[in-house]
Amino acid sequence: MGKKLFIKSYGCQMNVYDADRMADVLAPHGWTLTDAPDGADMVILNTCHIREKASEKVFSDLGRLRPLKQAREEAGERMILAVAGCTAQAEGAEIMVRAPIVDIVMGPQTYHRLPEMVARASRAAESKAGGKRKGVLDTEFPVEPKFDFLPEPVAKGPASFLSVQEGCDKFCTFCVVPYTRGAEYSRPVADVLSEARALVKGGAVEITLLGQNVNAYHGEAANGGEWGFGRLIRELAEIDGLERIRYTTSHPRDMDDDLIAAHRDVDKLMPFLHLPVQSGSDRILHLMNRQHKAEDYLRLVEKLRDARPDLALSSDFIVGFPGESERDFEDTLELVRRVGFVQAYSFKYSPRPGTPAAAMELQVPEEAKAERLAALQELLSEQTLAFNRACTGRVMDVLLDRHGKLDGQLLGRSPYMQPVHVQAPEALLGKLVRLRILDGHANSLSGEMAADLQQERALA
Ligand code: SAH
Ligand code: SF4
Ligand code: F3S
Repeated sequence: MGKKLFIKSYGCQMNVYDADRMADVLAPHGWTLTDAPDGADMVILNTCHIREKASEKVFSDLGRLRPLKQAREEAGERMILAVAGCTAQAEGAEIMVRAPIVDIVMGPQTYHRLPEMVARASRAAESKAGGKRKGVLDTEFPVEPKFDFLPEPVAKGPASFLSVQEGCDKFCTFCVVPYTRGAEYSRPVADVLSEARALVKGGAVEITLLGQNVNAYHGEAANGGEWGFGRLIRELAEIDGLERIRYTTSHPRDMDDDLIAAHRDVDKLMPFLHLPVQSGSDRILHLMNRQHKAEDYLRLVEKLRDARPDLALSSDFIVGFPGESERDFEDTLELVRRVGFVQAYSFKYSPRPGTPAAAMELQVPEEAKAERLAALQELLSEQTLAFNRACTGRVMDVLLDRHGKLDGQLLGRSPYMQPVHVQAPEALLGKLVRLRILDGHANSLSGEMAADLQQERALA
């Protein structure tokens, strides 16, 4: 009989990709996905550890799941509760102690062992009567890469994710990722290509290549050599039916000339780049161990724009890093003004256990962090709005991949990652269509289907 599986993912897109992989690996064992925890035979919380708030969410969610699980047990049924992802990796043992209702805790590198863990958790539950509960904890970094044991994914829509790289060796002083995801690993070129072809065959039109440090990619090639990220993108662009390529997240240090040239040469590579800078102050960048200066970033942006003049940039910022002065913060604002971002994420610095920055002196008071965040976000929102408004009247190809909120409305992504709303026939869901942009808003565009444009696209 089929068993129902509910997965909730927090955090980055790699967790979204991982959640699909977990579902894939469990499918042959009779598990099918359901969209609510009620009535599920297993719930997996796929956690994020990046900031304290994100990390604490798992405990409030577990609190909400407790009565559900108890009700099922009282009815003589079971609900396996599993915690996966980065918080599981970092705080596995603590979760087991703090939340005894959890049956399985597993780190991000062990998902291929999930069926075995589920079997062990089930056996433990059966033999529990009278004895002590025994949870399953697997937060190893196995020698075998999990990708070798996970089934080939199926496309879940026109826009798919594909993890090509995982882990990080950069050790920025604020960040938990090198500890939760482990050392940097690139999947072999052949695996990436075969997964991409399978996704396209299954209906994917756009693929976003994922990695915590995706542009550090250096995968083993067929001839025994190694390919960098630019080379990989060129090869992927040869796949018929694949119309759009994106990637995230990149580090400025790994933005090499070949990758910059790919932005110039490869039409399928979309003109949008998420390139986190974190701060505009050299002093703070140094304390963060980012290994580049503000000027390096500006020069890189210039090179990228020379290669692809319409490249739209997005970034991540941290305000209130230990020791950040008003002057340092001003440098961040100045960098933002000089670059002009179309979109960005900004966060208050959150001290993470075990990271060097958490132990640094001169932690910035909460009020200063809040003030700086508000000022930065105001500037960034102005830039986003200005860019969106400037798109009015332009003609853009939009991949319609979802339903909008209104009746008859579809929602898609512009080449620059802006969400675009349009009244369009249902038959166009999943299609790349040419739209005229009618208006630009704070976080989206609205467009219209125009007959002349559709003919033009059909002829192109
Ligand atoms: N690999 C990416 C970032 C991954 S984490 C990179 O190198 O840029 C995503 C973002 O979360 C980071 O870019 C950073 O802005 C933010 N972040 C990471 N650790 C943080 C912390 N301790 N406090 C606040 N924000 C943090
Ligand atoms: Fe974290 Fe820095 Fe690695 Fe990005 S590059 S994942 S911020 S340590
Ligand atoms: Fe969070 Fe882990 Fe991603 S900490 S941002 S889920 S890599």
